[in-house]
Amino acid sequence: MRKITHAVIPVAGFGSRMLPLSKSIPKELLPLGNRPVIHYVIEEAIAAGIKHIILVTHPQKQAIENYFDLNVELDTALRDSGKVALADSLQWLPDDVKISAIRQGKRLGLGHAVGAARPIIEGHDFAVLLPDVVIDPFTTNYASQNLAYMTAQFEATGHSQILVEAVAEADIHRYGIANLGAAEKHYQKSTSNQSLPVIGFVEKPEAKKAPSNLAVVGRYVFDSRILDYLDRTAPDKKGEIQLTDAIDALIQSAQVNVTTMIGDSFDAGDMPSYLQAFTYFSAHQR
Ligand code: G1P
Repeated sequence: MRKITHAVIPVAGFGSRMLPLSKSIPKELLPLGNRPVIHYVIEEAIAAGIKHIILVTHPQKQAIENYFDLNVELDTALRDSGKVALADSLQWLPDDVKISAIRQGKRLGLGHAVGAARPIIEGHDFAVLLPDVVIDPFTTNYASQNLAYMTAQFEATGHSQILVEAVAEADIHRYGIANLGAAEKHYQKSTSNQSLPVIGFVEKPEAKKAPSNLAVVGRYVFDSRILDYLDRTAPDKKGEIQLTDAIDALIQSAQVNVTTMIGDSFDAGDMPSYLQAFTYFSAHQR
């Protein structure tokens, strides 16, 4: 069985849609309730069985690594003043989960960021989680749905999985859009995840040229061969290496499926939807 134990999280971006908040605070550390955005994304990965998380990062974003590291001075000060439960609560990362960081260097697109993790993930099938996207932890079960479902599907079939959700026509131009071809008639909105074969993706099409309204949400489980396709992917018009193009190349030689998402996702990398998410998480805080 090909077990998924590695996940790549690209965090090197400027976060320009979140300025001025993100000027000196990485957008991944902005709060949703009383935790930073990336906290939920890492919890989701761990619940899906991930043991090694690779942050693809930038020198200006070291605060993200620090969030997951033990702060010895703080830990000692809290324990010395009797705040043991608080000190313990900061050490929530399970002992068998490791977080590594690798630098992206030039920011040449999402595909380039994923490819930058190669020195650590070489030889492993792996997941990718985009940290802008937070899946509602209050109404979904991270341990069995969405990413956890995708890893189980991959482990059972060897087919890479791309999470998609139906979006409004007005939002189609913001996403990679799936072309299910003949399988589209099998798609039905449901309360359980479904895995369906996909024949291609179009990155950010105009709504009227889009093959469907099923948008790539920001969770992927990949056959390790995706790294070779990324190496061969030419930059687009903007000079960026698109992950979507490498997936299209992978589809030519291997079956790739979409997984239909259940629950709600929040775009925490865009100001209006971040503010909505902030309100929602604050109201539901554990
Ligand atoms: C990326 C992907 C796109 C996907 C989106 C999800 O775009 O290229 O296919 O739909 O993430 O958030 P970005 O938002 O980085 O431009």
